Amino acid sequence: MNVRKIVIKKSNNLEGNVKIAGAKNAALAILASTILVGQKCILENVPDISDVSLMCSIMSHLGVKINMVGPNAIEVDAKNISSLCADFDEIRHMRASYYLLGAFLGRFGKASVAMPGGCDFGLRPMDQHIKGFESLNAKCEISGGIINVKCDKLKGNRVYLDVVSVGATINTVIAAVRAEGTTVIENAAKEPHVVDLANFLNSCGADIHGAGTDVIQVHGVKNLKGTSYQIIPDQIEAGTYMAISVATHGNLTINNVIPKHLESISAKLCEIGAQIDYFEDSIKISCPGKLKKCNVKTMPYPGFPTDMQPQIVALLTKCEGTSMVTEGVWDNRFRYVSELRRMGAEISVDGRLAVIEGVKKLVGTNVKAIDLRAGAAVILAGLISEGTTYVENIDYVERGYEDIVGKLSNLGADIKIVTESLDKISLSAC
Ligand code: UD1
Repeated sequence: MNVRKIVIKKSNNLEGNVKIAGAKNAALAILASTILVGQKCILENVPDISDVSLMCSIMSHLGVKINMVGPNAIEVDAKNISSLCADFDEIRHMRASYYLLGAFLGRFGKASVAMPGGCDFGLRPMDQHIKGFESLNAKCEISGGIINVKCDKLKGNRVYLDVVSVGATINTVIAAVRAEGTTVIENAAKEPHVVDLANFLNSCGADIHGAGTDVIQVHGVKNLKGTSYQIIPDQIEAGTYMAISVATHGNLTINNVIPKHLESISAKLCEIGAQIDYFEDSIKISCPGKLKKCNVKTMPYPGFPTDMQPQIVALLTKCEGTSMVTEGVWDNRFRYVSELRRMGAEISVDGRLAVIEGVKKLVGTNVKAIDLRAGAAVILAGLISEGTTYVENIDYVERGYEDIVGKLSNLGADIKIVTESLDKISLSAC
């Protein structure tokens, strides 16, 4: 058996251009919602990441025809669906598979989907998704690890989400698009990918207003048509390269971004010492001076994104002074801190609060990607550590970062993927 690792050596002053891929979380929601549309759609700027491959594979199992039609472009034809029951192993590995519920419910009036998995940040309930579906008149029950939803006729209604949830907002929008009458979603999530999903569905003939604010109105329509649509750039991939530029005292031009989506990240990186120039669809970011401490609290958009929390903590390990990071979205998103501590970071965690003491140096060692963004955090730490860092579990990183090793190498990082035979490792250990 082979095991793949990312091997990183200290890499100061990264420099050059990096192109950001399409947004993972927008792509996954839009892909699932093509089932609601039921006509041929062309999606462009689709990121080449394993979560997208997994979603395509799940949808192919259900009868959807998917073809590559160009670099980062796919044609999705969900006219014929072979099953409304999505209960196989792949579903459990992907959080975003819960969007199949809204898509099937909206088009066929019923769905059965296995409870989704995804990164482990503590409890990941679905009560608000169910509240959204039930408000539209659907009946929901969970039995044997399967969520079953059904409805004779979906009817628009007013629904207040008790917590700001990206998934519940998107699922309710998808289910409401073909419902009779108007649905009003209050306390909706405002994330860029909520807006992108609404823009995609509107280009298919849906009638959605207010996406990007906390009240979304969906006027039900009878029919949808196929479309051609370009997915927005990934806010978190861009934020990760911004943090890497600051950490390595680099000078990066980050292309294919929407600067507006990066405001909270830019604000915090400027407090740390970054200098940022903004252009229409790119930014230039450098950090010539000292790295200063900074306090961060993650919040729903437009707050600082929870999906940037591990990367900012890794950066703060090298900032002078004591920084505090509060996780405002998930109960248990500091599990990766033990990996940074193994590299010499001084971080204490109490519940949702991490206190980070800036240290003079980190030292490379064997670390694991605990989840997708935690993987990005240990890669960032590896770039600023003395010696060599070996990152295991790189499948997690590949779920959401397109060719991260190639992109970092192009910027001058000393980073590569190695494949080691486990037999060899155990033999040499004997
Ligand atoms: C999405 C993103 C994930 C990101 C998160 C927050 C995808 C595939 N994943 O996850 O990367 O970290 O947004 O920006 O798009 N909650 C409930 N009940 C529910 C649903 C959520 O209480 O029914 C709570 C959660 O426990 C959490 C908070 O709401 O505390 C936010 O969750 P949510 O926005 O739904 O996250 P996801 O959509 O799963």
